[in-house]
Amino acid sequence: MIPSDFIDELLSRIDIVDLIGAYVPLKKAGANYHACCPFHKEKTPSFTVSPTKQFYHCFGCGAHGTAIGFLMEHAHLDFVEAVEQLAHRIGLSVPHQAGRETPQERAEKKQKRLSLEETLKQCALFFQQQLLQSPKAQQYLQQRGLNQAIIQRYGLGYVPNHFQALQAIFDDYPNAPLLETGMLTENEGKIYDRFRDRIMFPIIDNTGRVIGFGGRVLDDSKPKYLNSPETPLFSKGHHLYGLYEARSAIKEAGCVLVVEGYMDVVALAQHNIAYAVAALGTATTSEHIRTLFRQTDAIYFCFDGDDAGRKAAWRALDNALPYLQDNKSIHFLFLPKEHDPDSFVRAYGAEKFEEILKKDAIPLSDYWLKELLSQVNTQTNEGRAQLLHLAKPYLQKIGTEAQALRYLMMEQLAKHTKIETQELHYLIGQALPSKRKSYRTIQLPQQSFRQPESQSLVDKLTQWLLINPQWASYVKFPDYLVLPVSYVDLMQIAELIKKRETTPTSAQLWENLRFEYSDLWGRLNQKQMGLNADLSGVPEEDEKAFAEGIQRLLQALFKQQINELAEKSKKQPLSAEDRNILNFLLSQKT
Ligand code: UTP
Ligand code: MN
Repeated sequence: MIPSDFIDELLSRIDIVDLIGAYVPLKKAGANYHACCPFHKEKTPSFTVSPTKQFYHCFGCGAHGTAIGFLMEHAHLDFVEAVEQLAHRIGLSVPHQAGRETPQERAEKKQKRLSLEETLKQCALFFQQQLLQSPKAQQYLQQRGLNQAIIQRYGLGYVPNHFQALQAIFDDYPNAPLLETGMLTENEGKIYDRFRDRIMFPIIDNTGRVIGFGGRVLDDSKPKYLNSPETPLFSKGHHLYGLYEARSAIKEAGCVLVVEGYMDVVALAQHNIAYAVAALGTATTSEHIRTLFRQTDAIYFCFDGDDAGRKAAWRALDNALPYLQDNKSIHFLFLPKEHDPDSFVRAYGAEKFEEILKKDAIPLSDYWLKELLSQVNTQTNEGRAQLLHLAKPYLQKIGTEAQALRYLMMEQLAKHTKIETQELHYLIGQALPSKRKSYRTIQLPQQSFRQPESQSLVDKLTQWLLINPQWASYVKFPDYLVLPVSYVDLMQIAELIKKRETTPTSAQLWENLRFEYSDLWGRLNQKQMGLNADLSGVPEEDEKAFAEGIQRLLQALFKQQINELAEKSKKQPLSAEDRNILNFLLSQKT
């Protein structure tokens, strides 16, 4: 985790105009800079960069973000990578843990990381060398159909059957980096090698560094695979096996294939299907999906045809829903029960594999519906109602970036439930934001979310505040008022701004939210709110309009709460507290 004050400092020292200017020729136009958008094809410039607000926005395609966001989109980096690259530009190194750090502490951390990386690199080289000296291990790989070129490409190795094999290359065995990278394990006070007598698969990060290993036994003993534990370098939910090796093949193929096992990746590559990667013995996480969608527009999951494979596929689907986009696709291929990709490609060859990949892979939306249908009987009203009930939470996870797909899935669902699409939209609705706990817990009745007037007003004011953080002081909701979640969001953003010593730029605010209020940040994104705003200067009266808007929200809340208390008083006598509030509200109302 990168401390958010570091992000803040970074954004205050980086100039987005310099940064973007290095990639795109920017022309000054008034207070801002213009260019043809680097994210879509255009002849007249609609891409704008604001030096004061430190963000960019394209009126053509809607791309927008901070310096960090720009690097993520433009150079296909993930968040941490983008932060690292920006820090590097101005000679900072990124602290990866919470809290403030001195430059010295940062330097020490970097040194430590380097020593962990170096340790794993030495291990990998040692394992490769050991493979050359082990006829048994070489024979095993040969028998699994791997040739020398592939063994080298994936850096496969072998670790001998010895409790201190690594002592051969580390004089100070057992040293701290070996422990911290998980190469050693501790049992009843004894420390020894974690991996013994195994084929070693190095796991590489996206810069080509070894960050961990998977190790397979050469026979039927258990456990079949051992993996590096979670370490400062390696995290299962984040990394994918084979992604580094597959990068260029993924570009070339225009898709990525996600399989279950190390051996599947390597065996497919052996058959010239080099665009496969594997999740590391865990479910496919949403982080995996995001990583993959940064590389390509099409993901194919290939799972074994057994129960475990189906379960894995369903979890992948579930994790993918929030990240679906109308211009990207996900497919699922289920192999015959007795096969995994490795055995299939060896039995039938690459051509056949790619043929069924094209022909038999099911698009996510079809797979989703098929699975749900298999659980209900659509011959009855009850079954069809249940279908809707099952479908609802999944549809609600799909974000606005896949609106068209969501609509089409609804249409399909409409056919099977015999409920009109229009009606379905009403029954399913948009995902309601999750409730926040730290504020007064009473929620207004659901219809307050649907009140179009105040909802769109609160959205508009939130959007304005995001690009004009200096207006935060206008946002005051007295704490005796009960607030709907979207108001709480607005209020929280304002409080975050007010809490700071100086007013943040829009960019700082945005990255701060991304980090520390990720729920809220997610909700904003879902509503396509954020840094997407007209940058052509903000006239004075908008500030007035903002202040008035807040007043209007307040009045609406007063009125609503008065009505509610009045309704309540018809049914039962009001409590002393309620009476107090009611009197107070009546005295406030203008
Ligand atoms: P599989 O058992 O399908 O492995 O597990 P595989 O790749 O087909 O292995 P081979 O063909 O028998 O050599 C799939 C993945 O699950 C993880 C590993 O990442 C493996 O590649 N796994 C499996 C473990 O982590 N531990 C285990 O004991 C088994
Ligand atoms: Mn296998």
